Amino acid sequence: MSLEVRAEAPADFPAVRHLLVAAFGDTQVADGVGRIRESWVYRPATSLVAVADGVVAGFVMITGCSVVGEGGERTAAMLTPLGVLPSRQRAGIGAALVRAALAGADAAGEPFVVLEGDPAYYRRFGFVPARDHGLLIHLPDWAPPEAAQVRLLTAYDPGDPSLRGTIAYPPVYG
Ligand SMILES: CC(C)(COP(=O)(O)OP(=O)(O)OC[C@H]1O[C@@H](n2cnc3c(N)ncnc32)[C@H](O)[C@@H]1OP(=O)(O)O)[C@@H](O)C(=O)NCCC(=O)NCCS
Repeated sequence: MSLEVRAEAPADFPAVRHLLVAAFGDTQVADGVGRIRESWVYRPATSLVAVADGVVAGFVMITGCSVVGEGGERTAAMLTPLGVLPSRQRAGIGAALVRAALAGADAAGEPFVVLEGDPAYYRRFGFVPARDHGLLIHLPDWAPPEAAQVRLLTAYDPGDPSLRGTIAYPPVYG
């Protein structure tokens, strides 16, 4: 399999929509991605496609969010969504996307990336419970608390109080 991971371009948008609908089983996530692209949280440099054998087979976004805490409010980075075409899953495409997106956030000087997801999948990339680092992510009722995770990056400073608090989702997430 040939695999290229690169930033998405507008020409990829229909293929990204197709793979997200296939991966998640409905249009909700794909619709959300469309809204994110129109908002301040969109970060094109960490919105990546995986092209496998010439086909857009996977997609990941690291977008902006806010941390609200005693140190005030500051922007931070959040990984959502991650999706791979069902016919192309379990071939390392998801892992390649997560690693490339984390490298991009690290290079951009982000101190961490938060997400909601299954720890059984994300711990292999260095994600740990967000609460271990003083970050609160409000989850849906059905999600276990361990779903709230953070991956610390090079610029993380444990002594910086602005890096602790509650993650606030911009309204675009719906
Ligand atoms: C989760 C997802 C992105 C993984 O993509 P992928 O390209 O198949 O992932 P990789 O090939 O890098 O890794 C596959 C491994 O992850 C495991 N895995 C996949 N989803 C998992 C999950 N939810 N929990 C635990 N392990 C999971 C697989 O069992 C496989 O393990 P193995 O290598 O030991 O066999 C893909 O399954 C997908 O699109 N799922 C539907 C959408 C979704 O749930 N997205 C994540 C939430 S935003």
